[in-house]
Amino acid sequence: MRKKFLGANWKMNLAYQKSKDLYTELSSLSPPSSELVIFPSTLFLSEFASLNGLPLGAQDVHFETYGAFTGSVSPLQLKSISCEYVLIGHSERRQYFNENNVLVNLKLKCAIQSGLKVIFCCGEPYENRKSSTHLSFVLAQIKAAFNEINETDLKNCIIAYEPIWAIGTGLNASQVEIEEMHGFIRESFSNSYGTDAADGLRIIYGGSCNQDNASAIFSYKDVDGGLVGAASLDFESFQKIITAL
Ligand code: 13P
Repeated sequence: MRKKFLGANWKMNLAYQKSKDLYTELSSLSPPSSELVIFPSTLFLSEFASLNGLPLGAQDVHFETYGAFTGSVSPLQLKSISCEYVLIGHSERRQYFNENNVLVNLKLKCAIQSGLKVIFCCGEPYENRKSSTHLSFVLAQIKAAFNEINETDLKNCIIAYEPIWAIGTGLNASQVEIEEMHGFIRESFSNSYGTDAADGLRIIYGGSCNQDNASAIFSYKDVDGGLVGAASLDFESFQKIITAL
């Protein structure tokens, strides 16, 4: 039985006090039976970690453990402040920061070796969905990212399927689209790592998930939770999504 996972990706939103208030408020809810992780700005991770609230994740990380990389944050630095998770391969990193599959693979390997758990994000642009090449597009992302990742490493990974056309658009993918892709992702991992590893792998959905559609989305086959952007910035709306899990 896979434990459900819900991530709140706050992206580059909320200044210090609002972030802290929201983190504190969410942390004061009775502990959920599923895994609930907050991804605030990296800037606030260290202080929030000292509040002993909900588990924390970073939205990005560098591909080396230490070194002369001005402005970057290393996986070991994240680990040293009790940050547990990191998002890798988010489409906004790929789109606005030119991160390609090779870089995503380097980041994934270094993060795992440093003891972080990884939420690997994949998903197709609208053109690929329209031309029915969405499955092969996502498969290529997965194959490249998981190059040299073994079965033990895979246990520290969660896959987030986030179709780019659904992120921040209000257009969530349909049940048929989500179930097709999640089933396909699980089958791909089964082909590479075996059925047991694939059965234990959590695959979560992200893209315009909100208080109105969360309950339905979380009930779809092969959906083990969600990664929520905009709707996680407001306490009431995110609380409803937590309840829907
Ligand atoms: P939205 O929920 O705002 O569409 O963002 C999804 C996302 O990118 C989560 O990582």
